[in-house]
Amino acid sequence: MPMTDPKPSMMLTTAQIQARIADLAREISADYPPGEDIHLVAILKGAFLFLGDLIRAIDRDVTVDFMAVSSYGKGTRSSGEVKMVKDLDSGLEGRHVIIVEDIVDTGLTLSYLQEILRARSPRSLRTACLLSKPSRRKVAVKVEYIGFTIEDRFVVGYGLDYGEKYRNLPYIGVLGEG
Ligand code: IMP
Ligand code: MG
Repeated sequence: MPMTDPKPSMMLTTAQIQARIADLAREISADYPPGEDIHLVAILKGAFLFLGDLIRAIDRDVTVDFMAVSSYGKGTRSSGEVKMVKDLDSGLEGRHVIIVEDIVDTGLTLSYLQEILRARSPRSLRTACLLSKPSRRKVAVKVEYIGFTIEDRFVVGYGLDYGEKYRNLPYIGVLGEG
C-alpha cells in the first residue's frame, strides 16, 4: 500500500481546458437567439468547476441550477442505476436548458437526465459535456457540446473524482499510469 495517493499523470492541462471551454462558450452564445436567456443545469458534483469556467466565458445572460445524481457504487465504473439525490430549485417550462455534465461514459446517467428534464417541457434541451468516452457507450445519447473526446481511461481532476478525491486538481489526469 502506498504511503500517499499516487499523483495522476497529465492528460489535459489547465490551459488546454480553458481554451476549449472558451470555444464552447462562444459556440453556445452564438447558437441561441440574442435576448433569450439560457438556463444551465449543472450535475453535481463533477460538473461544478466546468460550470464555473463555462459561465464566466459566456458573454450573455444565463441562470444556473443544480441537480445531484448518484450512480450507486463508488468505484471506477458506474453500475448503470441512477438515483436523483437533489432536484432543481425551479421549473424548466419554456426555458432554453443546457445540461452541464463532467463526462459521458456509458451514457446511462445522461440519458436518464435528458428523459426526466425533457418531461418538464423546456423550450429547448441540449447537453454540454467536458469529456466523452465514446468507446464505452451503452446507450446512444445526444451531446451537442463536447469539450474533449478521450480514450477509455479513468480520469480525475477538474471536478472529477475517484472515491471523492482529486476533484481539486487543476488539470485532468489519469490514475495508475506513468
Ligand atoms: P455514465 O452514466 O456511465 O455515462 O457515467 C457518468 C458518470 O460516471 C459521470 O458523471 C462520472 O461521475 C462517472 N465517470 C465516468 N467515467 C469517469 C472517469 O473517467 N472519471 C471519473 N468519473 C467518471
Ligand atoms: Mg459524477
